[in-house]
Amino acid sequence: MKSIVCLGLMRKVMVVSAAFVFAALLSACSDQEETSGTNHGPDSSEPEVVTVYSARAEHLIKPLFDEFTAETGIRVQYTTDTEAALIARLQTEQDRTPADALLTVDAGNLWHAAEVDMLQPINSEIVRENVPDYLRASDDSWAALSIRARTIVYSTARVDPAELSTYEALADEKWFGRLCLRTSAKVYNQSLVASMIDALGEERTEDIVSGWVKNLAVDPMSNDVMVIQAIEAGVCDAGIVNTYYFGRQEAENPEIPVALFWPNQEGRGVHINISGMGITRYAKHPELARQLIDWLSYEKAQKDFAGLNKEYPVNPKVDPVPEVQAWGNFKRDPINVEQLGALQADAIRLMDRAGYR
Ligand SMILES: [Fe+2]
Repeated sequence: MKSIVCLGLMRKVMVVSAAFVFAALLSACSDQEETSGTNHGPDSSEPEVVTVYSARAEHLIKPLFDEFTAETGIRVQYTTDTEAALIARLQTEQDRTPADALLTVDAGNLWHAAEVDMLQPINSEIVRENVPDYLRASDDSWAALSIRARTIVYSTARVDPAELSTYEALADEKWFGRLCLRTSAKVYNQSLVASMIDALGEERTEDIVSGWVKNLAVDPMSNDVMVIQAIEAGVCDAGIVNTYYFGRQEAENPEIPVALFWPNQEGRGVHINISGMGITRYAKHPELARQLIDWLSYEKAQKDFAGLNKEYPVNPKVDPVPEVQAWGNFKRDPINVEQLGALQADAIRLMDRAGYR
Protein backbone atom coordinates (compact mmCIF):
# COMPACT_ATOMS: atom_id res chain seq x y z
CA MET A 1 0.00 0.00 0.00
CA LYS A 2 2.76 2.39 0.94
CA SER A 3 4.37 1.84 -2.47
CA ILE A 4 1.19 2.66 -4.34
CA VAL A 5 0.63 5.83 -2.32
CA CYS A 6 4.22 6.86 -2.91
CA LEU A 7 4.10 6.19 -6.66
CA GLY A 8 0.89 8.21 -6.96
CA LEU A 9 2.40 11.13 -5.10
CA MET A 10 5.57 10.99 -7.17
CA ARG A 11 3.62 11.10 -10.44
CA LYS A 12 1.76 14.19 -9.25
CA VAL A 13 5.00 15.83 -8.21
CA MET A 14 6.61 15.02 -11.57
CA VAL A 15 3.75 16.81 -13.35
CA VAL A 16 4.62 20.05 -11.57
CA SER A 17 8.34 19.39 -12.32
CA ALA A 18 9.43 20.08 -8.78
CA ALA A 19 12.49 17.89 -9.11
CA PHE A 20 13.89 18.54 -5.66
CA VAL A 21 10.58 17.76 -3.96
CA PHE A 22 10.40 14.57 -5.99
CA ALA A 23 13.89 13.54 -4.92
CA ALA A 24 13.06 14.15 -1.28
CA LEU A 25 9.83 12.20 -1.60
CA LEU A 26 11.57 9.33 -3.37
CA SER A 27 14.09 9.08 -0.58
CA ALA A 28 11.39 9.25 2.11
CA CYS A 29 9.35 6.57 0.36
CA SER A 30 12.25 4.20 -0.12
CA ASP A 31 13.30 4.65 3.51
CA GLN A 32 9.78 3.83 4.51
CA GLU A 33 9.82 0.72 2.36
CA GLU A 34 13.10 -0.49 3.71
CA THR A 35 11.96 -0.25 7.29
CA SER A 36 8.42 -1.50 6.66
CA GLY A 37 9.62 -4.96 5.56
CA THR A 38 6.50 -5.47 3.43
CA ASN A 39 6.52 -7.10 0.01
CA HIS A 40 6.16 -4.71 -2.84
CA GLY A 41 5.68 -4.82 -6.57
CA PRO A 42 8.26 -5.16 -9.30
CA ASP A 43 9.82 -1.70 -9.21
CA SER A 44 13.45 -0.69 -9.02
CA SER A 45 13.40 -0.54 -5.21
CA GLU A 46 12.48 -4.23 -4.84
CA PRO A 47 15.26 -5.92 -2.84
CA GLU A 48 17.22 -8.46 -4.82
CA VAL A 49 17.03 -12.00 -3.47
CA VAL A 50 19.38 -14.87 -4.15
CA THR A 51 18.28 -18.39 -3.19
CA VAL A 52 20.76 -20.97 -1.95
CA TYR A 53 20.32 -24.71 -1.40
CA SER A 54 22.80 -25.54 1.35
CA ALA A 55 24.08 -28.81 2.75
CA ARG A 56 26.21 -26.71 5.08
CA ALA A 57 24.53 -26.27 8.45
CA GLU A 58 22.53 -23.11 9.10
CA HIS A 59 24.65 -21.87 12.03
CA LEU A 60 27.71 -21.91 9.74
CA ILE A 61 26.15 -19.93 6.90
CA LYS A 62 23.57 -17.57 8.40
CA PRO A 63 26.07 -15.11 9.94
CA LEU A 64 27.83 -14.85 6.56
CA PHE A 65 24.61 -14.40 4.61
CA ASP A 66 23.46 -11.71 7.05
CA GLU A 67 26.72 -9.86 6.57
CA PHE A 68 26.44 -10.19 2.79
CA THR A 69 22.94 -8.68 2.93
CA ALA A 70 24.10 -5.84 5.19
CA GLU A 71 26.91 -4.98 2.75
CA THR A 72 25.19 -5.46 -0.60
CA GLY A 73 21.47 -5.14 0.09
CA ILE A 74 20.97 -8.53 -1.58
CA ARG A 75 18.87 -10.84 0.57
CA VAL A 76 19.76 -14.51 0.83
CA GLN A 77 17.03 -17.09 1.06
CA TYR A 78 18.24 -20.56 1.88
CA THR A 79 17.09 -24.13 2.41
CA THR A 80 19.30 -26.59 4.25
CA ASP A 81 19.15 -30.37 3.73
CA THR A 82 21.48 -33.26 2.96
CA GLU A 83 23.48 -32.93 -0.25
CA ALA A 84 21.76 -35.95 -1.81
CA ALA A 85 18.31 -34.50 -1.12
CA LEU A 86 19.24 -31.08 -2.49
CA ILE A 87 20.79 -32.42 -5.69
CA ALA A 88 17.78 -34.72 -6.22
CA ARG A 89 15.51 -31.74 -5.67
CA LEU A 90 17.36 -29.70 -8.31
CA GLN A 91 16.95 -32.61 -10.72
CA THR A 92 13.23 -32.86 -10.03
CA GLU A 93 12.57 -29.13 -10.18
CA GLN A 94 14.67 -28.51 -13.31
CA ASP A 95 13.83 -24.99 -14.61
CA ARG A 96 11.18 -24.52 -11.90
CA THR A 97 13.79 -24.47 -9.15
CA PRO A 98 13.98 -21.39 -6.94
CA ALA A 99 17.66 -22.18 -6.25
CA ASP A 100 20.33 -19.93 -7.74
CA ALA A 101 23.27 -21.58 -5.98
CA LEU A 102 24.20 -24.90 -4.42
CA LEU A 103 26.47 -24.93 -1.37
CA THR A 104 27.67 -28.30 -0.18
CA VAL A 105 30.52 -30.19 1.40
CA ASP A 106 32.90 -32.57 -0.31
CA ALA A 107 34.22 -32.32 -3.85
CA GLY A 108 32.52 -35.66 -4.52
CA ASN A 109 29.10 -34.08 -4.03
CA LEU A 110 29.88 -31.03 -6.17
CA TRP A 111 31.35 -33.27 -8.82
CA HIS A 112 28.13 -35.30 -8.78
CA ALA A 113 25.96 -32.17 -9.12
CA ALA A 114 28.02 -31.15 -12.15
CA GLU A 115 27.85 -34.69 -13.58
CA VAL A 116 24.04 -34.63 -13.54
CA ASP A 117 24.17 -31.21 -15.22
CA MET A 118 22.73 -29.21 -12.33
CA LEU A 119 25.44 -26.50 -12.37
CA GLN A 120 26.62 -23.85 -14.84
CA PRO A 121 30.01 -22.11 -15.16
CA ILE A 122 30.70 -19.52 -12.44
CA ASN A 123 32.65 -17.39 -14.87
CA SER A 124 34.17 -15.01 -12.33
CA GLU A 125 37.56 -13.38 -12.54
CA ILE A 126 37.36 -12.71 -8.79
CA VAL A 127 36.85 -16.39 -7.94
CA ARG A 128 39.70 -17.38 -10.27
CA GLU A 129 41.91 -14.92 -8.43
CA ASN A 130 40.88 -15.86 -4.87
CA VAL A 131 40.56 -19.65 -5.16
CA PRO A 132 43.59 -21.68 -6.31
CA ASP A 133 43.18 -23.87 -9.43
CA TYR A 134 43.28 -27.22 -7.65
CA LEU A 135 40.26 -26.16 -5.56
CA ARG A 136 38.03 -25.39 -8.54
CA ALA A 137 36.27 -27.56 -11.13
CA SER A 138 38.10 -27.66 -14.45
CA ASP A 139 34.81 -26.82 -16.22
CA ASP A 140 34.30 -23.93 -13.74
CA SER A 141 31.06 -25.47 -12.41
CA TRP A 142 32.02 -25.00 -8.73
CA ALA A 143 34.66 -23.48 -6.49
CA ALA A 144 35.81 -24.44 -3.02
CA LEU A 145 35.15 -21.98 -0.18
CA SER A 146 36.83 -23.84 2.68
CA ILE A 147 39.29 -26.68 3.09
CA ARG A 148 38.97 -29.50 5.60
CA ALA A 149 41.72 -31.96 6.37
CA ARG A 150 40.93 -35.64 7.02
CA THR A 151 43.71 -36.84 9.21
CA ILE A 152 44.75 -39.31 11.91
CA VAL A 153 43.67 -38.84 15.54
CA TYR A 154 45.26 -40.81 18.35
CA SER A 155 45.18 -41.35 22.09
CA THR A 156 47.88 -39.30 23.77
CA ALA A 157 47.64 -41.75 26.69
CA ARG A 158 48.33 -44.93 24.71
CA VAL A 159 50.08 -43.91 21.49
CA ASP A 160 53.52 -42.40 20.97
CA PRO A 161 53.17 -40.20 17.85
CA ALA A 162 56.47 -41.73 16.67
CA GLU A 163 54.44 -44.92 16.07
CA LEU A 164 52.40 -43.09 13.44
CA SER A 165 53.45 -42.29 9.89
CA THR A 166 50.88 -42.75 7.10
CA TYR A 167 47.25 -43.67 6.44
CA GLU A 168 48.61 -46.87 4.88
CA ALA A 169 50.56 -47.80 8.02
CA LEU A 170 47.30 -48.04 9.99
CA ALA A 171 46.86 -51.35 8.13
CA ASP A 172 49.94 -52.80 9.91
CA GLU A 173 49.43 -55.67 12.33
CA LYS A 174 50.60 -53.55 15.25
CA TRP A 175 47.24 -51.72 15.07
CA PHE A 176 45.24 -54.95 15.40
CA GLY A 177 42.14 -54.25 17.51
CA ARG A 178 43.20 -50.62 18.01
CA LEU A 179 41.54 -48.77 15.13
CA CYS A 180 38.21 -46.91 14.95
CA LEU A 181 36.74 -45.74 11.64
CA ARG A 182 33.61 -44.02 10.48
CA THR A 183 31.39 -45.97 8.08
CA SER A 184 32.38 -46.26 4.41
CA ALA A 185 28.96 -44.88 3.48
CA LYS A 186 30.21 -41.38 4.31
CA VAL A 187 31.49 -39.48 1.30
CA TYR A 188 34.48 -38.25 3.38
CA ASN A 189 35.86 -41.80 3.47
CA GLN A 190 34.97 -42.42 -0.17
CA SER A 191 37.03 -39.35 -1.11
CA LEU A 192 39.92 -40.44 1.12
CA VAL A 193 39.99 -43.88 -0.52
CA ALA A 194 39.64 -42.21 -3.96
CA SER A 195 42.80 -40.20 -3.17
CA MET A 196 44.59 -43.43 -2.28
CA ILE A 197 43.49 -45.10 -5.52
CA ASP A 198 44.87 -42.11 -7.39
CA ALA A 199 48.20 -42.25 -5.55
CA LEU A 200 48.71 -46.00 -5.05
CA GLY A 201 46.50 -47.83 -7.54
CA GLU A 202 43.52 -50.07 -6.82
CA GLU A 203 45.36 -53.23 -5.79
CA ARG A 204 47.53 -51.66 -3.13
CA THR A 205 44.66 -49.51 -1.87
CA GLU A 206 42.44 -52.57 -1.49
CA ASP A 207 45.15 -54.33 0.56
CA ILE A 208 45.38 -51.31 2.83
CA VAL A 209 41.65 -50.94 3.29
CA SER A 210 41.37 -54.68 4.06
CA GLY A 211 44.11 -54.18 6.64
CA TRP A 212 42.17 -51.32 8.26
CA VAL A 213 39.07 -53.50 8.46
CA LYS A 214 41.09 -56.29 10.14
CA ASN A 215 42.42 -53.78 12.68
CA LEU A 216 39.02 -52.38 13.71
CA ALA A 217 38.34 -52.49 17.44
CA VAL A 218 34.58 -52.18 16.84
CA ASP A 219 32.21 -51.86 13.87
CA PRO A 220 32.52 -48.65 11.83
CA MET A 221 30.78 -45.71 13.48
CA SER A 222 28.19 -43.33 12.13
CA ASN A 223 30.16 -40.11 12.66
CA ASP A 224 33.59 -38.66 13.35
CA VAL A 225 32.75 -37.43 16.85
CA MET A 226 32.01 -41.02 17.92
CA VAL A 227 35.47 -42.01 16.66
CA ILE A 228 37.11 -39.31 18.80
CA GLN A 229 34.99 -40.22 21.83
CA ALA A 230 35.82 -43.91 21.42
CA ILE A 231 39.55 -43.08 21.43
CA GLU A 232 39.06 -40.90 24.48
CA ALA A 233 37.14 -43.70 26.23
CA GLY A 234 39.83 -46.31 25.49
CA VAL A 235 37.77 -48.35 22.99
CA CYS A 236 40.50 -47.84 20.39
CA ASP A 237 43.80 -45.99 20.04
CA ALA A 238 43.68 -44.29 16.64
CA GLY A 239 41.27 -43.28 13.91
CA ILE A 240 40.72 -40.99 10.94
CA VAL A 241 38.57 -37.84 11.20
CA ASN A 242 38.03 -34.36 9.77
CA THR A 243 39.95 -31.88 11.88
CA TYR A 244 36.99 -29.60 12.67
CA TYR A 245 35.27 -32.42 14.59
CA PHE A 246 38.37 -32.67 16.73
CA GLY A 247 38.24 -28.87 17.07
CA ARG A 248 34.72 -29.09 18.50
CA GLN A 249 35.69 -31.78 21.01
CA GLU A 250 38.81 -29.88 21.96
CA ALA A 251 36.77 -26.70 22.53
CA GLU A 252 34.53 -28.63 24.95
CA ASN A 253 37.48 -30.18 26.74
CA PRO A 254 40.85 -28.51 26.18
CA GLU A 255 42.48 -31.34 28.18
CA ILE A 256 41.11 -34.06 25.89
CA PRO A 257 43.65 -36.95 25.78
CA VAL A 258 43.42 -37.14 21.98
CA ALA A 259 45.56 -35.33 19.40
CA LEU A 260 45.82 -34.84 15.65
CA PHE A 261 48.64 -36.36 13.62
CA TRP A 262 49.60 -35.22 10.10
CA PRO A 263 50.34 -38.37 8.07
CA ASN A 264 52.16 -38.90 4.76
CA GLN A 265 54.37 -35.84 5.27
CA GLU A 266 57.26 -37.57 3.49
CA GLY A 267 54.96 -38.45 0.62
CA ARG A 268 51.83 -37.01 -0.95
CA GLY A 269 50.59 -35.20 2.18
CA VAL A 270 47.37 -35.03 4.20
CA HIS A 271 44.09 -35.73 2.44
CA ILE A 272 42.07 -32.56 2.11
CA ASN A 273 38.56 -31.98 0.98
CA ILE A 274 36.43 -28.90 0.59
CA SER A 275 33.10 -27.25 0.97
CA GLY A 276 32.13 -25.24 -2.06
CA MET A 277 29.52 -23.59 -4.17
CA GLY A 278 28.22 -23.55 -7.72
CA ILE A 279 25.57 -21.65 -9.67
CA THR A 280 22.62 -23.88 -10.51
CA ARG A 281 21.88 -24.77 -14.12
CA TYR A 282 18.47 -23.02 -14.04
CA ALA A 283 19.31 -20.09 -11.74
CA LYS A 284 16.93 -17.17 -12.17
CA HIS A 285 19.55 -14.84 -10.70
CA PRO A 286 22.95 -16.18 -11.81
CA GLU A 287 24.47 -12.71 -11.47
CA LEU A 288 23.47 -12.49 -7.79
CA ALA A 289 24.72 -16.03 -7.16
CA ARG A 290 28.04 -15.03 -8.73
CA GLN A 291 28.17 -11.94 -6.51
CA LEU A 292 27.63 -14.13 -3.44
CA ILE A 293 30.39 -16.57 -4.41
CA ASP A 294 32.72 -13.65 -5.19
CA TRP A 295 31.96 -12.09 -1.81
CA LEU A 296 32.54 -15.37 0.04
CA SER A 297 35.94 -15.77 -1.64
CA TYR A 298 37.28 -12.41 -0.43
CA GLU A 299 39.55 -12.16 2.61
CA LYS A 300 36.95 -10.76 4.99
CA ALA A 301 34.32 -13.47 4.49
CA GLN A 302 36.92 -16.22 4.17
CA LYS A 303 38.08 -15.70 7.73
CA ASP A 304 34.56 -16.40 9.08
CA PHE A 305 33.44 -18.95 6.50
CA ALA A 306 36.36 -21.19 7.47
CA GLY A 307 36.68 -19.98 11.06
CA LEU A 308 33.11 -20.69 12.17
CA ASN A 309 33.72 -24.38 11.47
CA LYS A 310 37.43 -24.45 12.36
CA GLU A 311 38.33 -25.16 8.73
CA TYR A 312 41.06 -23.77 6.48
CA PRO A 313 40.37 -20.77 4.21
CA VAL A 314 40.78 -21.33 0.45
CA ASN A 315 42.00 -17.79 -0.15
CA PRO A 316 45.78 -18.01 0.34
CA LYS A 317 45.85 -14.48 1.78
CA VAL A 318 43.83 -15.58 4.81
CA ASP A 319 45.18 -17.44 7.86
CA PRO A 320 43.10 -20.01 9.75
CA VAL A 321 41.73 -19.01 13.17
CA PRO A 322 44.27 -19.32 16.06
CA GLU A 323 42.91 -22.63 17.45
CA VAL A 324 43.33 -24.19 14.00
CA GLN A 325 46.79 -22.65 13.55
CA ALA A 326 47.73 -24.25 16.87
CA TRP A 327 47.45 -27.71 15.24
CA GLY A 328 50.52 -26.80 13.17
CA ASN A 329 51.33 -26.63 9.49
CA PHE A 330 51.27 -29.67 7.28
CA LYS A 331 51.85 -30.71 3.72
CA ARG A 332 48.61 -31.19 1.79
CA ASP A 333 47.92 -33.77 -0.90
CA PRO A 334 48.00 -31.59 -4.04
CA ILE A 335 45.56 -33.80 -5.98
CA ASN A 336 42.92 -31.73 -7.78
CA VAL A 337 39.88 -32.36 -5.57
CA GLU A 338 37.77 -32.89 -8.70
CA GLN A 339 39.60 -36.18 -9.21
CA LEU A 340 38.13 -37.42 -5.91
CA GLY A 341 34.66 -37.26 -7.43
CA ALA A 342 35.76 -39.00 -10.60
CA LEU A 343 37.16 -41.94 -8.57
CA GLN A 344 34.31 -42.11 -6.07
CA ALA A 345 32.44 -45.03 -7.66
CA ASP A 346 35.69 -47.04 -7.81
CA ALA A 347 36.32 -46.22 -4.15
CA ILE A 348 32.85 -47.43 -3.10
CA ARG A 349 33.28 -50.74 -4.95
CA LEU A 350 36.76 -51.20 -3.50
CA MET A 351 35.59 -50.61 0.08
CA ASP A 352 32.79 -53.08 -0.46
CA ARG A 353 35.23 -55.75 -1.72
CA ALA A 354 37.49 -55.06 1.27
CA GLY A 355 34.58 -55.65 3.66
CA TYR A 356 34.56 -52.04 4.90
CA ARG A 357 30.96 -51.35 5.89
FE1 LIG B 1 31.32 -32.90 8.38
